Amino acid sequence: MAEVHIRKVVKKYDEVLAVRGIDLDIRDHEFVVLVGPSGCGKTTTLRMIAGLEDITDGEIAIGGDVVNDVPPKDRDIAMVFQNYALYPHMTVHENMSFGLRLKKFPKDEINRRVDEAARILDIKELLDRKPKQLSGGQRQRVAMGRAIVRNPKVFLFDEPLSNLDAKLRVQMRIEIKKVHQKVRTTTVYVTHDQVEAMTLADRVVVMNNGVIEQVGTPNDLYHHPKTRFVAGFIGSPAMNFIPCKLQDEAGELKLRINDGLALPVPPARAGKYVQHKGNGSVLLGLRPEHLTEARAQLDPGVVAFDANLDVTEPMGMETLVYFPINGETVCGRVNPAAGAKEGAPLKMAADLNNMHLIDPKSGLVL
Ligand SMILES: Nc1ncnc2c1ncn2[C@@H]1O[C@H](COP(=O)(O)OP(=O)(O)O)[C@@H](O)[C@H]1O
Ligand SMILES: [Mg+2]
Repeated sequence: MAEVHIRKVVKKYDEVLAVRGIDLDIRDHEFVVLVGPSGCGKTTTLRMIAGLEDITDGEIAIGGDVVNDVPPKDRDIAMVFQNYALYPHMTVHENMSFGLRLKKFPKDEINRRVDEAARILDIKELLDRKPKQLSGGQRQRVAMGRAIVRNPKVFLFDEPLSNLDAKLRVQMRIEIKKVHQKVRTTTVYVTHDQVEAMTLADRVVVMNNGVIEQVGTPNDLYHHPKTRFVAGFIGSPAMNFIPCKLQDEAGELKLRINDGLALPVPPARAGKYVQHKGNGSVLLGLRPEHLTEARAQLDPGVVAFDANLDVTEPMGMETLVYFPINGETVCGRVNPAAGAKEGAPLKMAADLNNMHLIDPKSGLVL
């Protein structure tokens, strides 16, 4: 097991700058997820850690040793891909032990490791089957088993669940988490799915366009995004961004949304935001759960306003409501009993204690 250090790493493919100088320190035993939209450089980063891609500039160290010039087979890492091709003519046991047999491990040791991995993955009864006799989820487990038996310093996963259906993905997510709790191997996991990232990671690394936007625990990223990109990428339904002006109105700092609607900034936030007043348009960032039906008694910092609902989506435990503010559609989450109806008005409430304020020019959360 080992920590991984990434220092100012750049990857250029001819004209394409795929990774633009990233720094990342991954701790021993840590489960780190790289997440971001397609093409942001996740796979490239993972493949550089694995040694499958050269590094254009910078340095990668595994377990304290710089590995820039170490070939993949000597890096002591194990990789699980989206296409976890198992050998069809080999049994599960043979598939799992293949790498160890190549390395001429003693038979006892091979059997011990395969048994241990099979126990962790709960696939002991499958060891004599061929891949075609397995379900998708079982095959995925075998692919993980193949990585576990090698007892590597680091596990690298590249979208390992993308080929599975939605229900199985959720199950396998839990399996992967359980496996990590048992083996505790340092893990770097790549996905484009922010829910997968949030549920699996000790820390999430949000990438965008070849750079790291922010690194943090799932809760940290959710509650304290540093950029508009992270604020919009993490969380589903996504955070609403409402253009407004921050201005002084009769001695009170307000978010002026339109002629009819101005939301007072809670006193606890006013000190932080006052320096930005009058600086043109800003974005009010509010998550859907902070736009709810108005209660009779409003807490401090919660402001009621009238909305006209375009669309409602009953989800069972809650109803998502969509309504326009200044022509932009925003999403709120209301109680199923709140009487939300499409095409009808509803008294809504914005909880500004949980607001974010974003500078649209820099994209930074203020
Ligand atoms: N072998 C390659 N040659 C040229 N460009 C590549 C190659 N591999 C990836 N890229 C480019 O590098 C960028 C990052 O790709 P990738 O790391 O695969 O993104 P992700 O895994 O986040 O979807 C993309 O613009 C992609 O087109
Ligand atoms: Mg990829």
